[in-house]
This record gives sequence, structure tokens and C-alpha cells, in this order.
Amino acid sequence: MKKISLTGIKPTGDLHIGNYFGAIKPALELAKEYDARYFIADYHALNTMKNPAELNFTIRQVAACWLASGLDPEKVIFYRQSSIPEVFELTTMLMAFTSKGLMNRAHAYKAAVQENNEKGDDTDAGINMGLFTYPVLMAADIIIFDSDVVPVGKDQVQHIEMAQDIAQSINANYKQQVLKVPQAVVQENAAVVPGLDGRKMSKSYGNVIPLFAPEKALRKTIMRIVTNSQPVEEPKDPQDSQIFQLYKLFAQADEQDALAGRYRAGGMGWGEAKEELFRVINRSLSPIRERYDAIMADIPALDKILEQGAQKARPIAAATVKRFRKAAGID
Ligand code: TRP
Repeated sequence: MKKISLTGIKPTGDLHIGNYFGAIKPALELAKEYDARYFIADYHALNTMKNPAELNFTIRQVAACWLASGLDPEKVIFYRQSSIPEVFELTTMLMAFTSKGLMNRAHAYKAAVQENNEKGDDTDAGINMGLFTYPVLMAADIIIFDSDVVPVGKDQVQHIEMAQDIAQSINANYKQQVLKVPQAVVQENAAVVPGLDGRKMSKSYGNVIPLFAPEKALRKTIMRIVTNSQPVEEPKDPQDSQIFQLYKLFAQADEQDALAGRYRAGGMGWGEAKEELFRVINRSLSPIRERYDAIMADIPALDKILEQGAQKARPIAAATVKRFRKAAGID
């Protein structure tokens, strides 16, 4: 039997090329070898997104992005978290085995507390129970589908470790393997895509290149990449420039060599390098953008795909819950 790969994306805003290279592309690579179950973590987004029209839209946006990027819903079980009520039943069961201390140690919660303390606010200001218990819901997402591997970015590894802890303590308590213990898969090389300012591309830094911006807006964004004041004539070190780091993600090997040569030779200004970067990014993203636009133009068809995925997913989820209930004496 093939092993199972599972991952989810939280629909909290416009997707950028960091999401694509850090999450979507590696997950779709894994889907070639594994039985893949990929989903939209919409209840996770509810922790921070309280505007219904916006959340409704971002859910479809993420779904369309998966499909436009090449996810085949015939091969991958593709669904919305909110369509699988068993996930929330399992969450309640996992809660009984999750120490509060474990949640206190979660990075996202700790960062929110630290920020409050630094501002002199109440320790728990603005922190809802959804954020505090986030790792339990995520553990349920993973464990309910008997996942073997979970492709994620480095920032999510702690959550997978918590899912392991929770599953292990349940198995230990019932002296049997009730739940499968998942492993994180971190794409080391894909993990860091530099943003416009050279820091890691991240929505929270406001330095992103959006995946689906129209061509004109895409070009404008690329022209905003921060560069130093080296004059045109001066030779430049390609490794030193985020323009070249981004270029490497989209250009073929011979194109990369050619551009690196032009950097080193001098005589090429940053503006020209950005034009070249725009050309290759636009070349790669245009077909994805076209598919994305077509999918977003027919939301009922998109919803149908997600609903069909949920129908495949639910019996698997129900079987895990049943197994657990039996082990726990709630059958
Ligand atoms: N926490 C993940 C993120 O913010 C999203 C997510 C929710 C997830 N549930 C998951 C990822 C289960 C992997 C597996 O990116």
C-alpha cells in the first residue's frame, strides 16, 4: 500500500510565490509517489478572519490555486476541512490527551504573548482559544487521515511534533496503535524564497510577489525589488542579489548562466536585471494564472470538486474516529 501524504493551507490571504515554492510545489511532487490528501484549512483561518465575504473568497482562492498549480482531484483527495465534521470530533478527543503546558509552548501562542508583554498589554489580549488550541486541531487534521508524511515549511515542524506527542500518548494509554504517528517532511531547498526587500517572502513582512496578479501589476511589483546603489558599469555578484535568487527559481540553467555572466561582467544595471526577471516569472506564471482565472470564473464547478473530495474523505475520517471511540470505551 502506498504511504499517505497530507497537508493543508490556511486561506488567510493572497497567495504569493513563496507559498508556491515552499508549500504547493513540493506537496504536488510528493503526490506523485504518495496517496495524497490535500485540503483547505478554513476553520483555522476563522481564528483571524472575521469578515465573511473575505473568508468566503480566500477559501475559493486557495482551492483554485491548488488546481491551477496542477493538483488532479481524481488522484488527490482534495477537500475543505469544514466539510469533515469528524475532524472536530477527533479534536475533542485529542484535547483530553493534550496537556495545557504543551500548548503554552507553541511558538505562535508564545509570540502573541510576548508581543502583548512588550506592549504592556494584558498577557492574553487578543488571543482566542482557536489560536491557543491551534495545534490540536492541526493534529486532528493530520491524524484523522492516517497520514505518514506531512510536507510543511520549517515554521510548522513544531506543530507536527505536537501531533506526534499527542498520538503517542494515546497509543501508550491504550497499549495499542490506535493512531498513526506522522512525520514532517521539510523541503530544505524550497523553504526560503526571498521577498522584495531580501528578507524571507512573507505576508507579514509585506514583501511578497503575488501569484495571480495581472501582468501589469506583476511587473510593477518586480520593479519595486530593493537594490543597492551600485552603478550600471560595476560588476555585480549574482549570489548577492535577491533578483538573481528569484531568477533561479524560474529560469533554465543556460539562462541562469547567461544572466550570472552579465552580472559579473558589469554594464548591466538593476533595472535591466528586473526586466529579465519579470520576463521569466511572467512566462512561468501566465499559464497558471490563466487556469486560475478560468477556475475562479466558475465557483459552482469548483465547489463541486471540493464536495466530491469531501465525500471520499469522510469515510476515512469516520473510520479513525470509530477506532478511537472503540479503544476509549465510547462505542
Ligand atoms: N498550520 C498550517 C499553516 O499555517 C496549515 C495547516 C492546518 C496544516 N492544518 C494542517 C498543514 C495540517 C499541514 C497539516 O501553514
